[in-house]
Amino acid sequence: MKKIITYGTFDMFHQGHYNILKRAKDYGDYLIVGVTGENYDIGRGKLSVHDTLATRIENVKNTGLVDEIIVEEYLGQKIGDIIKYDIDSFVIGDDWVGKFDHLSRYCNMVYLERTKGISSTKLREETFEKYDIGIITDEIDDNELVKEAKLVNGFEVKNVYCDSEKTLNGFQEKYNIENVFDDYGKMIEASDIVFVRCSIEKRFNYIRQALESGKHVIYDSPATFKSSELEELLDLSKEKNVILMENIKMVHIYVFNQLLWMTQGGLIGDILSFNCSISKNDESRSNLFYDLSALSLLPMLKIMGQNYEKADFKVTKDGEEIEFASMNFVYPNGRAVINVGNVVRVDNQLEIIGTKGTIRMRGNWWRSKNFSLHKPGEIDAELYNTNFEGNGFKYLIKAMSTMLKNNSIDSMGVFEDESLKIVEILEQVKKTDDNTL
Ligand code: CTP
Repeated sequence: MKKIITYGTFDMFHQGHYNILKRAKDYGDYLIVGVTGENYDIGRGKLSVHDTLATRIENVKNTGLVDEIIVEEYLGQKIGDIIKYDIDSFVIGDDWVGKFDHLSRYCNMVYLERTKGISSTKLREETFEKYDIGIITDEIDDNELVKEAKLVNGFEVKNVYCDSEKTLNGFQEKYNIENVFDDYGKMIEASDIVFVRCSIEKRFNYIRQALESGKHVIYDSPATFKSSELEELLDLSKEKNVILMENIKMVHIYVFNQLLWMTQGGLIGDILSFNCSISKNDESRSNLFYDLSALSLLPMLKIMGQNYEKADFKVTKDGEEIEFASMNFVYPNGRAVINVGNVVRVDNQLEIIGTKGTIRMRGNWWRSKNFSLHKPGEIDAELYNTNFEGNGFKYLIKAMSTMLKNNSIDSMGVFEDESLKIVEILEQVKKTDDNTL
């Protein structure tokens, strides 16, 4: 019996898929189809897949051409499959010519001509609602947003506004943005989603104006120095029935969600200590201290909760600008220390100590692909990894897309009470005088 294998995502099943399965079947007696798993696709950055794995499998099965369906779950699985299923020929469309030649050591490689004029990408583009993103920026660098937004169905950065003409033109040229605006109101009008990317002093007014016009907003965090202003923005978003989303990409990254699962689910026992440090070099932004602090306070609030008994802050300032702060929180059964350096450098790291284990993230922990778990009595640490690519924007935009589609809240994101607590804490830190000895 001649056994054939082929692989694909088979999203929005179409004639091209049917044709290749039919022709693959003609190459032998028994056809196995590997359908890509959801985590595998997400991990390799293919976020646009629309149908669930179950639907894609069902569609492949309904052709009546296939003898067996397997799920492709990880990079490098194919060789193992070829050996395990004793495959004679591997069949794939000619968009992959040359990419799988190394498999010819194990079986016969066949590249078949693709059916012209159809693809899942094309169908998705024709089917899905379009969301034009407008950015208000004060930097020329986009931090990958333009490229990453395009990876999610229907999303594209189409508009940009900046109060400096030089930055505006530089940004448009660098990222080839369709429309530039020197009038913020006009940019809001032309956009479905407004992305507020600027220093904290300017955010509140920009966010408010966009919400008042009934637009969804993503904003660099925190929105403001004052909790009363954040409350106003949250109320306004509800009144206008639009999404107000905080740009903290970390919460959409798998490895961070694994970490949360472990700490919140008691897998490292009772948490005794949360410790993290952060400093970054970004001279284009004033008051960067608040951005770095929001990023650090969020995991603390998610892991340790909000019911700390006491907090004290050691703050070093240069005029109004905070250069360094050590924030200490005493919880009923543990302690959290967050060190944030704006001008002062500190080593970036995050450590959570529980009664049954310690979790560590070294380096830029807010965008890390892995963490280590150290268990008492065990010499080697366990490593938790994801093959997450990029800086996380595509996962944030994907979360926005899910919320828009399901009219739901971002259940993996930043909760309202967490946003408010962050601003409340920062309000207190801001009031703290420079208490350098
Ligand atoms: N295929 C084909 N003709 C097409 C589209 C796909 O022969 N017009 C083949 C591919 O070459 C592959 C299989 O169908 O062997 C599964 O392809 P898949 O990537 O799932 O489909 P695409 O339509 O190419 O999807 P996308 O646009 O997301 O890349």
